[in-house]
Amino acid sequence: MKQTTISIVKSTVPVLEKHGQAITTRFYEMLFEQYPSLKNVFNQTNQKTGRQQMALANTVYAAAQYIDRLETLLPVVKQIAHKHRSIGVKAEHYPIVGEFLLKAIKDVLKEAATDEIMEAWKEAYGAIADVFISVEQELYEEAEEKGWKDYKKLMVHKKVKEAEDVYSFYLISPDQKALPAFLPGQYVSVRIPGQEYLSIRQYSLSGYPNQPYYKITVKKEKQMEDGVVSTYLHDQLKEGDLLEVSVPAGDFVLKENSKSVFISGGVGITPMMSMLHQALENNQEVTFIHSAKNEQFHAMKQELQSLSETYTFEQHVFYSQAQTEQHDEHITYGRLTKKELAKYAADKHAYYYVCGSSSFTQMVLEGLAEMGISQENIMYESFGPKMSMTPS
Ligand code: HEM
Repeated sequence: MKQTTISIVKSTVPVLEKHGQAITTRFYEMLFEQYPSLKNVFNQTNQKTGRQQMALANTVYAAAQYIDRLETLLPVVKQIAHKHRSIGVKAEHYPIVGEFLLKAIKDVLKEAATDEIMEAWKEAYGAIADVFISVEQELYEEAEEKGWKDYKKLMVHKKVKEAEDVYSFYLISPDQKALPAFLPGQYVSVRIPGQEYLSIRQYSLSGYPNQPYYKITVKKEKQMEDGVVSTYLHDQLKEGDLLEVSVPAGDFVLKENSKSVFISGGVGITPMMSMLHQALENNQEVTFIHSAKNEQFHAMKQELQSLSETYTFEQHVFYSQAQTEQHDEHITYGRLTKKELAKYAADKHAYYYVCGSSSFTQMVLEGLAEMGISQENIMYESFGPKMSMTPS
């Protein structure tokens, strides 16, 4: 890429970011008008709430800052690529997205977006897209080798209530074939039919590897807009039914470290249970911190209890809205705050895994930073989108 192109791209990033909302809105409007079938791929709830739709464009701008050293972004690209692969984003989608992103930029910036600027951005988008396409290509090959390329219909073997508004689904292969192996912490995409379009969501695998089933543990989202998939799973999907599932994906996985600290909020406990089991089997030292509304909302409580009967590990559970208090040395009645966190999670050599809502994750990340825990020792997955493209 020519130096002038690089300079143009870098110097115009702030302008695009300033008009981010307008460009993104215009982008999706045009994209779905021309290609309504893409509504089967993009989460339409995110479109309605505006929550996640900025992620794509913002990431393109952020990546453009590194246009002359895109290889430094590979770890971040990998994480997004895992999600794209599990959803079913294909190489042929990239030019379409690029075309409409550029059109939206032109529509919003008008004359300010000169031909020279548009040419430079076309080239930059192409280079960024190529990185994603090649990483995703590898992930597709891996998935196909392990199991299947896109979605496979698995059968609901068991549906079990875990807590208030939380069900676990045990999924098996109807053809009796072994399911592809996964790493504790990984997730699957689940795709269901809708009135007009398909809907896709990601759920962490809450079971352990090397079982004849995949287990997902799903909370029913109360707002109908948010909950199309979880409501379907809770209210309609029965034992014996089929569900479309991707090969497991994701790089939020257990590291080989002497000490692991798991910190989860609400249904964020799901990947943690899988990692907890593995960490204990690996003889790692473990601290497990969990925050739930109260006992009724504490998903996978029994499983945690039985693990603590088999293995020795430090455990702290916080019930933020408990009505009645029972004596249990592991339970604190009250909210998990940064101050509480500092009591149990201050080991600078430990590896930290955080999972929960965006506000929960943010609180924990701030708390860990204040305690001087290095970013390199922290991995997190929040229910919201990750938009930062800064290499770690
Ligand atoms: C999610 C970036 C191209 C479809 C995301 C996320 C980012 C991102 C940052 C959020 C990841 C997360 O939540 O952890 C990009 C970039 C692209 C690109 C930088 C181009 C260089 C595409 C293409 C498609 C696509 C070509 C398919 C047409 C999606 C979908 C999601 C997603 C469906 C899940 C979120 C949702 O459904 O709203 N992308 N993306 N992306 N991306 Fe992309």
